[in-house]
Amino acid sequence: MSRPKVSGMSDLKMVSLAGLGKGFGVGETRVEVLKDLDIEVEKGQMLAVVGPSGVGKSTLLHIIGLLDRPDDGRLELGGRDVGGLDREERAHLRNRMIGFVFQHHYLLDELDALDNVALPMRIAGDRSAAARGRAEELLAAVSLSDRAHHYPDQLSGGEQQRVAVARALAMGPDLLLADEPTGNLDRANSDAVFSLVRELHLMAGLTSIIVTHDEEMARKCDGIFRLAPAGENFDHV
Ligand SMILES: Nc1ncnc2c1ncn2[C@@H]1O[C@H](COP(=O)(O)OP(=O)(O)OP(=O)(O)O)[C@@H](O)[C@H]1O
Ligand SMILES: [Mg+2]
Repeated sequence: MSRPKVSGMSDLKMVSLAGLGKGFGVGETRVEVLKDLDIEVEKGQMLAVVGPSGVGKSTLLHIIGLLDRPDDGRLELGGRDVGGLDREERAHLRNRMIGFVFQHHYLLDELDALDNVALPMRIAGDRSAAARGRAEELLAAVSLSDRAHHYPDQLSGGEQQRVAVARALAMGPDLLLADEPTGNLDRANSDAVFSLVRELHLMAGLTSIIVTHDEEMARKCDGIFRLAPAGENFDHV
């Protein structure tokens, strides 16, 4: 696959969405979720996405993360129009470019923390000592070196989520997408995980989009995108 073409103004944008539309179902049960949405996220920016439950925040993140396709509109990632890519090209781009953190950690129960972090590299066929070294470094970056051989059920909720953050960074993504990453955590753990994500975002020069219900957290990001029901206006602060 050719390298993404980055040129002109697009150099500054990691995500560029124009006229996005997405709905689910057909006929009378059809629900329009996202309508004529424009979003631009500059490289290096950390954008919070907030909005009421059911408004389409996860749907939006899935589309940007190439886990779902829009019905209408144009999506560019790193200046490249991804609309024409086939399934395999999308999977390739997703694996190389995008890291995900979800509300639930989705760690594999039968792997310890270190193997969970190394898993994306293993799936990509990299079982090298360097890959293991990178997994160890990432665990250290989330302050969990001393939990490397603990299994998910031997970790606290905050620790599980920190392992999930380390795993999201395993492939050296450009774009970090987090869907309510602290939604299952208490205030203290929530703050700790967010601070960590913010720190790694800056350290790794990432572009990040964080869906959250937490206004305090949203205000610590570089910008807030307020998603309103389809067709209504929204603010981009
Ligand atoms: N695969 C699907 N099939 C049908 N409807 C769906 C599907 N995925 C999402 N929806 C609907 O689209 C709307 C937006 O869902 P989405 O999960 O994006 O909301 P959200 O803003 O993330 O909500 P929450 O804050 O509760 O996580 C909801 O009404 C949901 O029921
Ligand atoms: Mg959601």
